[in-house]
Amino acid sequence: MKILGIESSCDETAAAVVEDGRQVLSSVVASQIDIHAVYGGVVPEIASRAHTEAICGVVESALTQANCTMEDIDAIAVTNAPGLIGALLTGVSFAKGLAFTTKKPLVPVHHIRGHIAANYLVHPDLKPPFIALVVSGGHTSLMRVEDYTDHKLISSTRDDAAGEAFDKCARVLGLPYPGGAAMDKLAAIGDKNKYKLNAGNVDGAPYDFTFSGLKTSVINLVHTELQRGRIMDEEFKADIAASFTNALVKAITARLDLLLSENGGCDIVLAGGVAANSHLREAVKATAEKFGANLYLPPLKLCGDNAAMIAAQGYYEFLAGVRGGTDLNGYATKHC
Ligand code: KG4
Ligand code: ZN
Repeated sequence: MKILGIESSCDETAAAVVEDGRQVLSSVVASQIDIHAVYGGVVPEIASRAHTEAICGVVESALTQANCTMEDIDAIAVTNAPGLIGALLTGVSFAKGLAFTTKKPLVPVHHIRGHIAANYLVHPDLKPPFIALVVSGGHTSLMRVEDYTDHKLISSTRDDAAGEAFDKCARVLGLPYPGGAAMDKLAAIGDKNKYKLNAGNVDGAPYDFTFSGLKTSVINLVHTELQRGRIMDEEFKADIAASFTNALVKAITARLDLLLSENGGCDIVLAGGVAANSHLREAVKATAEKFGANLYLPPLKLCGDNAAMIAAQGYYEFLAGVRGGTDLNGYATKHC
């Protein structure tokens, strides 16, 4: 069964064709990063307009690269939550129009379920139940994936998401948006013990995350050091990046460690844009090994937003009978 996936929740216009939820026939991503970089972050209205311009061409390329026409497609899966509402509505409206004119079933997909499903595309043996650790630009959460379409939230962030914290720290260091990947490289050459930084805990909610305090500490630390005459050189940036990354990664793995110590070894899936972070990948690997748990990591190219992951999850949503009608809407926030 071939599913055409469409993704437009943030700053990537993407389309893909995936067979039976597991095999990528094509995956096209048109990134808007260059457009937003000058503003230091995503500008919602500009994102919506850029999606509108790109979407026809991106879908056409995905079909061509998969050697398909719409006649070969069995269903259309589209991200309808969560994300920037104008951006989401571009993809949803396009997918509705396409489904309506071709009389194909339409399947709404939750973006975070999609990030988790990216792992199905590269791990043929992976199937629920498992624990998903989702670390992205807009989300940081632990989830129990009981079945392909049954996601139980264990914990989430009380304030900033990990990716958001990475991007804000990168910004104070003068790195271009989005700064996660640059922070990753800098952290590799910095001294992680140079600055004492910590992500806090949430009273009474040991699995919940909080990163805004850590972000503010880094911003204050950088400003104080600069006022004292410190030059913003490579060494300074690298030490800040390493100390910040170390604190963030320790907070994430501490929660995973606690969960595994209380629940025993189980399969673990890492997902989301920040799953590309080399330090996080290593630390999660070490935690999984400690408990003898199987760890599934997404390949780097499937960590960020793409439509193959939406088509993969769309396949399982389709099998579960999930359908979007002509009244399908987009939602900026929605539980997974
Ligand atoms: O999952 P994603 O594409 O967006 C959401 O669905 O929210 O994640 C984008 C985020 C950005 O904040 C970006 O800076 C971060 O992922 N990111 C990284 C790395 N690569 C991307 N953060 C840390 N290390 C990386 N290597
Ligand atoms: Zn995403």
